[in-house]
Amino acid sequence: MIGKICGTGSCVPKGLWDNQKLMELVDTSDEWVRERTGVARRHIAENGETTASLAAEAALTALQNGGIRAEQVDLIITATVSPGDLMPNVSCQVQKKIGALNATCFDLNAACTGFLFALNTAQAYLARGIYQTALVIGAEILSDLTNWKDRSTCILFGDGAGAVVLRAGETGKYAQVTYSTGEKGNVLTCACRNQKRYAAGADAPETYMQMDGREVFRFAVSRVPEAIEELLKKEEMHIEQIAYFILHQANERIVRSVVKRLGANPDKFPMNMEEYGNTSSASIPILLNELNRKGMLRRGEYIVLSGFGAGLSYGASLMEW
Ligand code: UT7
Repeated sequence: MIGKICGTGSCVPKGLWDNQKLMELVDTSDEWVRERTGVARRHIAENGETTASLAAEAALTALQNGGIRAEQVDLIITATVSPGDLMPNVSCQVQKKIGALNATCFDLNAACTGFLFALNTAQAYLARGIYQTALVIGAEILSDLTNWKDRSTCILFGDGAGAVVLRAGETGKYAQVTYSTGEKGNVLTCACRNQKRYAAGADAPETYMQMDGREVFRFAVSRVPEAIEELLKKEEMHIEQIAYFILHQANERIVRSVVKRLGANPDKFPMNMEEYGNTSSASIPILLNELNRKGMLRRGEYIVLSGFGAGLSYGASLMEW
């Protein structure tokens, strides 16, 4: 059995912070941020919005889009690095909010590659016939983990959630490659914001996201095209056969560099980081939902999803729409 996406959804907070707003917080400029990252705005959670509330809203719109009732869902996996609460997990909170009484629910953390890892996990359950209908969600409130005094990171990130509903069927295609490179873990970190850390100072820089941006950049522009090429070779497919490459929306320059290294058609690499910034595990499903809602994805066509992030980790997935 293979899981096919039958519905997509997303939800972003109402609060919108443009680059001008960040200029009130750090020494930066709209021009620098747009030119170096491609980001113009990001949505920021306010007024009680939580990772679980965004995730549940994205899940509900995905179910609606796929014509699936919440009781039909057997499995909910949420990829997140910013669950808000450690317990109960985000997926159980989503279950409660949407009434998915029959679902088994757990979260998974593989940072910005998290949605791909969650998709792979759901596909494995479906392939074994253990479950038939799965909700796979990427949801983040990164603004909670952002050091708003650090101009090298705060300009990049935003909050949001995206979700897909997978239904098991006899036909379709799903293939993936994933890698983790733990020895590079120190280039993108966020220490747990637990009581011991608070005792050391609630504002200790290590309790916020810290990043060697250049190193992550270098990693992404070499590993993402490698993963995509390996995947296509493994599946004996050519780049021309892929309708869209839906990449993690971290930085416009990273996407453009991947296009160049693959020698691909840039029109096949949609981007939306201008509007949302980097929403970590939510970025791929938010973009996927936009393409779906615009009617750009056609049944029978192939898409590739690819991401990279803290760990460090990276991967790519090929699927028939
Ligand atoms: O999901 C994975 C998450 N992470 C990523 O994807 C990050 C990947 N890396 C990047 O996107 C880029 O490395 C950044 C956008 C973070 C930084 O861009 P960069 O072109 O690598 O800049 P840089 O760190 O090499 O800094 C260049 C200059 C420096 O000034 P000097 O030393 O040349 O005088 C920085 O101090 O730009 C300065 N700078 C800024 N200037 C204005 C750094 N941040 C800012 C800023 N505004 N916000």
